[in-house]
Amino acid sequence: MSTALLSLAHVTKAFGADMALDDVSLDLAAGEFFCLLGPSGCGKSTLLRLIAGFEAPTSGTLHLAGEDMAARPPHRRPVNMMFQSYALFPHMDVAANVGYGLKGLGRAGIAARVDELLRLVRLDGFGRRRPDTLSGGQRQRVALARALAREPKILLLDEPLGALDRTLRDETQGELRALQKRLGTTFIVVTHDPGEAMALADRIGVMDRGRLVQVGDAATLYERPATRFVAGLLGDVNLIAGQVADRTGDIARVETGLGSLHAGVQPDAPGAGAAVVVALRPERIVLGPADTATDAEPNALAGHVTEITYLGDRIRHRVRMADGSEIRATVAAGGQAPAFAPGDAVALGFPPGAATLLPA
Ligand SMILES: Nc1ncnc2c1ncn2[C@@H]1O[C@H](COP(=O)(O)OP(=O)(O)O)[C@@H](O)[C@H]1O
Ligand SMILES: [Mg+2]
Repeated sequence: MSTALLSLAHVTKAFGADMALDDVSLDLAAGEFFCLLGPSGCGKSTLLRLIAGFEAPTSGTLHLAGEDMAARPPHRRPVNMMFQSYALFPHMDVAANVGYGLKGLGRAGIAARVDELLRLVRLDGFGRRRPDTLSGGQRQRVALARALAREPKILLLDEPLGALDRTLRDETQGELRALQKRLGTTFIVVTHDPGEAMALADRIGVMDRGRLVQVGDAATLYERPATRFVAGLLGDVNLIAGQVADRTGDIARVETGLGSLHAGVQPDAPGAGAAVVVALRPERIVLGPADTATDAEPNALAGHVTEITYLGDRIRHRVRMADGSEIRATVAAGGQAPAFAPGDAVALGFPPGAATLLPA
């Protein structure tokens, strides 16, 4: 077998006729920070609960550190779960909450371990406080300390930052990542927020209706999405439908409503005749005044700007193309005022490597 810390093979979970998980296979290495990303209802929590042992798979296997977990109840698995609600005991102080699951260390041993855990989450001195006297971010860290108390091999976190406001969330993301790297514990974090997954994870698994559709680091998912769903989830993307005309080396020529486009392809990409979608990120398009040859030949297009939006760090252009479709192109603002105005004719270009071919 593999040396994976966690290995899921062909796992399915049915709730009646509803397939919450559909043939999920996944290997995680020790020390990884992994994010499960997907919209509400796609099966993220179900997968987490299955790893924790609160749910049994309908079919498929789950191995942890090489051992089959089928017959192992949750408390006998080397994992722990931090719930979204934190589930702190309101009538117990912080130290009692953190030390709740610790047994067999003796009173002094538990106190020392609790101190260590509180230092770890930067809450030293908070041991005697009640949860309701803490901020949201502090409560989140108490829950984290409690979940780490028994040194799980894998910590499962279901939307751990969901209750925090935006500023605090950004700050806490950095802390969570630093903490994970310091501990070396494998973290699996569930989130529906692509930005959060990209900020946190070594690798991201994207889920769509019970299926794990792509696993990779943030750059791979963003630059080389496997499906339209993944492409659109991670950021804005232009999707241009077409048909592969031919292929020369690693470049495919695709006939589209905008004319012939050239896109870089992998060796296993669909061949001539296949219906495809050319996926192109708005920031990969080079925008110039009409009739200028962009240096991004052979993909040269023309259109008219219909809308310009200044977004602070970048400027977004909506461009109406000859076939009536719309292309979005963004350029870094860099302190400059927009170079174009609505109504301007513009030239658009992009190198073949900037585009990805996806199944239609
Ligand atoms: N205990 C359950 N009984 C019946 N259906 C469930 C149960 N838990 C989850 N589901 C269904 O499984 C699907 C996935 O749910 P969930 O894993 O909670 O999604 P997510 O966490 O991605 O929002 C949903 O359609 C949900 O209604
Ligand atoms: Mg959920």
